[in-house]
Amino acid sequence: MPLFSRRLAAVATAALLCTASAGASLATAPPAGAIVGGSAIATPPVWLAAIGTPAFVIRPSGQFCGGVLVAPAKVVTAAHCVDFLRPLPTLLSATFGRADLSKKDGESVQVKSIWVQPGFKETTFKGETVEHNDVALLTLSRPILDRAPLPVIGRGGLYPNNVPAQVYGWGTTSETDLLNFHLRGAQIPLVPDARCGDAYGSSFDKRDMVCAGGPQHDTCQFDSGGPLVIQGRLAGLTSWAYGCARSGYPGVYTRLSSFTLPL
Ligand code: ARG
Repeated sequence: MPLFSRRLAAVATAALLCTASAGASLATAPPAGAIVGGSAIATPPVWLAAIGTPAFVIRPSGQFCGGVLVAPAKVVTAAHCVDFLRPLPTLLSATFGRADLSKKDGESVQVKSIWVQPGFKETTFKGETVEHNDVALLTLSRPILDRAPLPVIGRGGLYPNNVPAQVYGWGTTSETDLLNFHLRGAQIPLVPDARCGDAYGSSFDKRDMVCAGGPQHDTCQFDSGGPLVIQGRLAGLTSWAYGCARSGYPGVYTRLSSFTLPL
């Protein structure tokens, strides 16, 4: 989608122009929360990471995506978040325990290498970028031993429609809000595959995507790569949608039960 392309361009430009010390934040607004609907979270879940780079100066902590610790030195995120940085993995870091991105608390760990799911590719739907096979695995430069990883849904695991799912992220609280820097979470309903297919046609592929959320609660920009948690397991990753919280256009998440990660 356009915003994300601009973000990529901004990261790429910043990466070229800036040194690692250029982490200064342009944040002036008070934290309003992230995610459409939902509520602010004071203490992030131990396994939740903000993925960023000091080169991304337009957001504090350089944050542009979410990620989840799934093993002591492994963080899962969306492929579209990190694919363009594959040649430069050490520009990336995973920050744990920081609810407010404009603070310096918590723990930041540099990324050593990036694995991207083969078959990751991008197409478009109404000008929006559609992400296929949108999962990547980051290897950290050191293991995080004092934080319990989040278990990942098993291969072939199910997504029951009547079970609530949780999403988390530092992203925007609406399509027009660009100044949210505080972690938020929301409980969102899963959307049946047939309904998601009605919304997105052949752009929706139930083999690697699952839909959730609606006009009340949805993820939005900069939430990508963050978790969809079902029954205490990492079941999905925020991936794409047509806008945010638009009626008839649910959020699309990477269906993690379809993948075997190189853990
Ligand atoms: N692609 C977006 C990102 O990079 C995530 C969009 C999710 N949108 C939604 N309405 N659920 O942050």
